[in-house]
Amino acid sequence: MIARVLAVANQKGGVGKTTTALTLAAAFAKEGRNVLVMDLDPHVSASIHMRFYPEKLRHTAYDLFKKPRGERWQTVWNKVTYPAAGGVFDFVPAHPKLSDLDVDLAGIKSKGSLLVRALMNVPQEYDYVILDCPPYLGVLLANAIMAANLVIIPIQTEYLALNGLKLIFSTMRTLNRVRREPVGYRALATMFDSRAGACKRVLELLREKLGDKLFKTIIHHDTKLREASGKGAVIYDLYPDSRSALEYVQLAAEIEAL
Ligand SMILES: Nc1ncnc2c1ncn2[C@@H]1O[C@H](COP(=O)(O)OP(=O)(O)O)[C@@H](O)[C@H]1O
Ligand SMILES: [Mg+2]
Repeated sequence: MIARVLAVANQKGGVGKTTTALTLAAAFAKEGRNVLVMDLDPHVSASIHMRFYPEKLRHTAYDLFKKPRGERWQTVWNKVTYPAAGGVFDFVPAHPKLSDLDVDLAGIKSKGSLLVRALMNVPQEYDYVILDCPPYLGVLLANAIMAANLVIIPIQTEYLALNGLKLIFSTMRTLNRVRREPVGYRALATMFDSRAGACKRVLELLREKLGDKLFKTIIHHDTKLREASGKGAVIYDLYPDSRSALEYVQLAAEIEAL
C-alpha cells in the first residue's frame, strides 16, 4: 500500500530534480515516514549518488517494466529494492538500458500504465514513493506522471527556467486526457541566490505566474548539497543544520500539509 506518489520532473536538466528526490526522501524519513525512491533516469545519477552502480546490479527499475508473465510482483519488487542512505529509505536503482524502453515497448497498448500497475502491487507499506524522472518526454516520464499524485517541478531561478516549464505543462496536459483525474503539481524554486538580482526577478515572475502552485519553501543555492552528492551521502549525514537541510525539512512539512 502506498499513500502518495511524488514525481520530481522538469523537461530541463540540472535544475535539482535528483537532489530534490533524494534530499526530500531523507527529510521525510527524518520525520518517521516510510519512503521509497525510484531512479527512472537512464543517466542513473540518483543511483550513482547513492552508490549503486548499475553495471554491478542484476536487478533494477528495468525489471519492473519487463516483468515476465507468471512472475509474482512481490518477487520482482524484492529483487529491485535496496536499502539506501544507511537504511534510511528504500531505493530502486536505474539502469542505462531503461532508455531502450521507448523502442522495446513501442507496440504495447498499456505501456503508459506499467508503473501504475507495478505500484499497485508493491508489497511494502510506504507513506511516499518519490520518482526521479528523466529530463525528456518518453515512456519513463509518461509512466511517472501517470502514477503520480503530485508532480514536483524544481525550477532553477534563472531566466531560461520558464522554457522547461512550458514543456512539462504540455506533457501534463496531454496525460491528463488519459488520467482519471488531472495530476496535481507544485513548482519548487531551487538554487536561489538572494544576492543575484536576476534570481530575485525570476522568483517574482514565478510567484506572479504560478501563485499558490509555487511552494512557499525556497531552496537556496548551497554547495553543501553538491558536496554530499560527491560523498554518496544525503545532507543530513554531513550537515544536518545547514540551510538547505532545513529547507528540505520545511518542504516535506509543506507537502504533508497539502
Ligand atoms: N540548491 C542547490 N545548490 C547548489 N547546488 C545544487 C543545488 N541543488 C542541486 N545542486 C547541484 O546541481 C547539480 C544538478 O543537480 P541535480 O539534482 O543533479 O539536477 P537534475 O536532476 O535536475 O539534473 C548537481 O551537481 C547538484 O549537486
Ligand atoms: Mg537528475
